[in-house]
Amino acid sequence: MINTIILAAGGSKRLKSKKSKVLHEILGKKVIEYVIDVSRSVSDYTIIIVSNSDKEIQSTFSDKNIKFAVQKEAIGTQNAVKSGLHLVNAKSVLVLCGDTPTLKEETIKKLCEIHSEESNKLTMLSVYMNEPASYGRVKRIDGLIDSIVESKDASEEELKIKEINSGVYIFDYAELSRLIDRVTNDNVQKEYYLTDLVKIFKEEGLKVGALVIDDSTEIIGVNNRLDLHNATKIIQKRINEKHMLNGVTLINPDSIFIEPDVKIGRDVTIKQCTELKGTTIVSEDSVIGPNVTIENSVLGLGVEVRDSTVLNSKIGDNTKVGPYAYIRPNSNIGQSCKIGDFVEIKNSTLGDATKVSHLSYIGDSDLGENINVGCGTIFVNYDGKNKHRSIVEDNVFIGCNTNIVSPVRIGKGAFIAAGTTVTKDVESGALCIGRVRETQRKDWVKKK
Ligand code: UD1
Ligand code: CA
Repeated sequence: MINTIILAAGGSKRLKSKKSKVLHEILGKKVIEYVIDVSRSVSDYTIIIVSNSDKEIQSTFSDKNIKFAVQKEAIGTQNAVKSGLHLVNAKSVLVLCGDTPTLKEETIKKLCEIHSEESNKLTMLSVYMNEPASYGRVKRIDGLIDSIVESKDASEEELKIKEINSGVYIFDYAELSRLIDRVTNDNVQKEYYLTDLVKIFKEEGLKVGALVIDDSTEIIGVNNRLDLHNATKIIQKRINEKHMLNGVTLINPDSIFIEPDVKIGRDVTIKQCTELKGTTIVSEDSVIGPNVTIENSVLGLGVEVRDSTVLNSKIGDNTKVGPYAYIRPNSNIGQSCKIGDFVEIKNSTLGDATKVSHLSYIGDSDLGENINVGCGTIFVNYDGKNKHRSIVEDNVFIGCNTNIVSPVRIGKGAFIAAGTTVTKDVESGALCIGRVRETQRKDWVKKK
């Protein structure tokens, strides 16, 4: 059994933000959520170490498999781990940092495998880096790990080492508990370094191993906005590549942002400057974009959406949306419909083959099948105090520039003449016309 300790009690100064770096978002998900997902893939539960002042992280997660421990003062990574040890109930403890969202599940699975296969008491994850900057250096003697030296404490010779400590480790819990207090703060930063345990374990004759990876993009720590951008690009690229390999065409993928939980069928084309968010599902043969935002919505087969926004709604097979349509939450649009330019739909249902081709607002209403909604039709759903619903039955023809003052019911196959303001129910098959007749005055212009 494995428990994870995620370190998140350090400061976030370099991000220049009111909130903790681990709560900033990458593609709709918080930085630390990516780390929690990795933790979940190998461990039974997760202990997050937070600082005394940080109530926000604790209030963000309410999952019974996540517990919090407070580190009173940020005096080093050893002390951070120590603050959570009393909550551990497992043979092994995985330590992750809360600010490393690009870490891959498969890497951590492999680390755990090596740890148990080699019967190590400590297994660390290390990476080769050409310019290791401020990372801790992994010192080896005869190829075997000896210790980790923090860059601030390192000699010139040690600074040349290219193998660095990623900050990810798996410890034997019993040995970790027994030896953790041997760490001192006798170093340049006067901090208690978790990394000192490598040397301590070795001196005790305990087996220490490492998984060495060569992809340094997996261990980016999000410390400032530039790191946040770099981590976003890495995660964006991974998601986009997964969809492309699954049979989705992406045109200019650098400009396409697909959040992790979105599902896309085969032979879908996504065009530039499009974002697919939340729990959106796009079914086979659809063409989405350019310039589309779709959030928490379900699109049927062969749907086309361009230059439009769709929020928390459903769109049936072969329906065309846009350009410049705005489909607001709780709309359910049938199959083979047409939602054209400058059309706004909110909290409404449209039956199959209904067309709203231009410049209309449909709010809080239920429209049947095969209805034509003429250009400039407005469903007047708000009386200044309350919202009202209208019903339009199948095969109704609504002429241009019509107001439907809700609540009304328009019966099957009725015909609403252009320019009418409908304030009462309309019978099936009736013509409803209500407009001021125009008059003409001969030669009026010449005489005025
Ligand atoms: C640490 C490692 C270094 C490694 C690097 C990888 C130590 C001493 N050094 O350095 O070898 O190359 O990570 O990224 O461990 N934290 C707390 N409480 C504290 C201090 C830190 O919770 O008192 C948390 C931070 O929020 C962060 C993590 O621990 O999530 C790592 O701390 P940080 O200060 O970023 O460590 P580095 O100096 O980068
Ligand atoms: Ca530090």
